[in-house]
Formats: sequence, C-alpha cells, structure tokens
Amino acid sequence: MNTQILQFNTKNIRLCAAEISCGGVVAFPTETVYGLGADALNPLAVKKIYEAKGRPSDNPLICHISDKSQIEKFAYLTPAAEKIIDTFMPGPITIILKKKDIVPDIVTGGLDTVGIRMPNHKGALQFIDACKTPICAPSANTSSKPSPTTAQHVYSDLNGKIKYILDGGSCQVGLESTIVDCINLTLLRQGGLPKEQLEALVGALKTNVVSDVPLCPGMKYKHYSPNASVYVALCGENMTKRIIAEYDKSDVKTIILTLGGNYQGRNTLNVGATVSQYAHNLFAYFRMLDEQGYERIICEGVTDDGVGAALMNRMLKASGGKII
Ligand code: TXA
Ligand code: MG
Repeated sequence: MNTQILQFNTKNIRLCAAEISCGGVVAFPTETVYGLGADALNPLAVKKIYEAKGRPSDNPLICHISDKSQIEKFAYLTPAAEKIIDTFMPGPITIILKKKDIVPDIVTGGLDTVGIRMPNHKGALQFIDACKTPICAPSANTSSKPSPTTAQHVYSDLNGKIKYILDGGSCQVGLESTIVDCINLTLLRQGGLPKEQLEALVGALKTNVVSDVPLCPGMKYKHYSPNASVYVALCGENMTKRIIAEYDKSDVKTIILTLGGNYQGRNTLNVGATVSQYAHNLFAYFRMLDEQGYERIICEGVTDDGVGAALMNRMLKASGGKII
C-alpha cells in the first residue's frame, strides 16, 4: 500500500472521511500528537488500528468527537465530567466514563469504561465532523516509539501500512492529553492540561492508586523510547554543570538537552526557551537524534508543575527511570 501525505483542504478531508466510511484508517493531527483514526463503531475498522501499530489488544483507544452533544450517546455523564466538558473541551484532556452498549469492546479493550476527547484543533474537528461518527484513535506511532508530532514522523513509522496521513504541520502541545477518570476522580495520565487546572475545577484528584484492575492499561507498556539510551538529569544549576563537565568528553556519542541553552558545552542542544517549548520539541528531538546516530541522550529535568509534570513523566518513562 502506498502511503500519501495529504494537505489539509476540503477535498482531502472528504477523501479521508470516505476512507473512514469504507472501514479504513487515517492518520490526522491534533493539538497534542497525531492520531491514527478509524470509525469507533466499526469493530473491523478498529482492528486495523491495532494491526498497523502492533498494539496489544488489551490497550483501549480514545474516542474523538467534534461536538460535545455526542458524548451522551456513548457514555454516562458524571457531575465532574460535566464541569470538565464545559470548561476544558475542546482541549488536551481525555475523560474516562462508564460506556454505553453502543461502544464496541474492541475500542475499550474489554473495559466497561470509555475515554472521550475533543481535540482543540480546527482541522481535526473538521475531519471528525466530516466522518459523521466518533473516531477512535491512539497516537499514530509504532507501539513503544515516541508519539508523532509531525506528518513525517507518522510516515516514517507507518509507511506502507495506511493509505492517508492528513498533514496539519507540527502539533502545538507535543505531548499527549491528560487523562482523568471521572467516575473515581483519579488522574490516570499527566498530559497537556496541567493537573493544577483540573483540581481547581473538580477538587483533589487521586493518583497512583493501587488496584488489581489496570487503571490505564497503556501505562504498563514501555513508551516514548528512542533507540538511544535516555537519562534524566535532575534540575539545578550545579547538577547541570556537573553533567556537562562529566559527559561532554565521553566516548559514547552523547547529547545533553538543556532548557533555554543556559549551559553550553560541545554536546549540548537547547530544546526551547520555556518548558512548553521543551514539551513541544521533546518527541521530535528524540526522533531527530536517533536519525543522527546518538547513543545517549541526557535530558535536563524540569520542575514538576504545570506542563512540566507531564514532560518529566515522559522523560522518565523514556529513560526507564534512569536518573543521573
Ligand atoms: O493526546 C492524546 O491523547 C492522543 C491523541 C491522538 O488524541 N492519543 C493518545 O492515545 O495518546 P494512546 O492510545 O496513545 O493513549 C491513550 C491511553 C492509553 O494508555 C490507554 O490505555 C488509555 O489512554 N485509555 C484509553 N481508554 C481507557 C479507559 N477506558 N480506561 C483507562 N485508560 C484508558
Ligand atoms: Mg500512544
């Protein structure tokens, strides 16, 4: 199969919506990362997502909608969900609710809950609207690779496996959505919408709940990894200077990602002036550095608040918890 990267315009949106109606899959941009979409109500189409990504079938998919009024067709609302929908949708947030029977089991990995998200991206909303069905979509990468933030990233993972990629340029946020379970008021994944903003609206959220049931099945799999070994250097001026002094002369091909370029050595790379820019660039830099043959990537840590919490989470996951 030839994979085509298509410009975002009315003709191509129609073409991709027709592909979805025929049970195909299409990659599309959102404000967080690119998604690999199929008709959520067509189990055979959904199966193709798992096949293209090499994704374990117990890892459920998020349903993307273009209109808030669609949510009640698929799920039972809760008071917290209603507040979040009113305040933060569209936006980088996914809510988990008890599902209605119309949602096929293949979408939810057999769980009785479903994840719902309305992306804050004009093109994504036009595409979903044109499909006239909810679009379930994971991130459009090969499983365990960093999530794609450009159409080119999707192409390099899925070339030959899907027909179309809608090209919306580079994703603004660069990290996946925040996931909140609106039944148990539990934060399942840090993401583009900071926890502090959610808690200001719905009160304290539980985190790290120990349970026999996988709360967010995807979190048990290795994630976000480039081929290089990743390490996180905990933040602080002295720490960063020490790391640069120690690793700059290393034999292993090493790069040190720093925030704001405050510290410079032979092998340092400024990932952005702000934490948001760092988040926007992280996955793209992981992919670029792999292409350049780096063997070791050291990421300067950031403070664990705002979008920094999600950024630290992704860097620590990519590193497998390796801190230096
Ligand atoms: O920003 C995003 O959320 C992107 C864009 C494309 O919308 N999507 C995304 O999907 O990151 P994915 O599949 O890569 O990650 C979704 C996570 C997985 O860890 C999955 O286990 C979890 O959401 N999830 C989905 N449905 C769930 C449910 N009913 N209960 C608990 N976790 C769920
Ligand atoms: Mg993913």
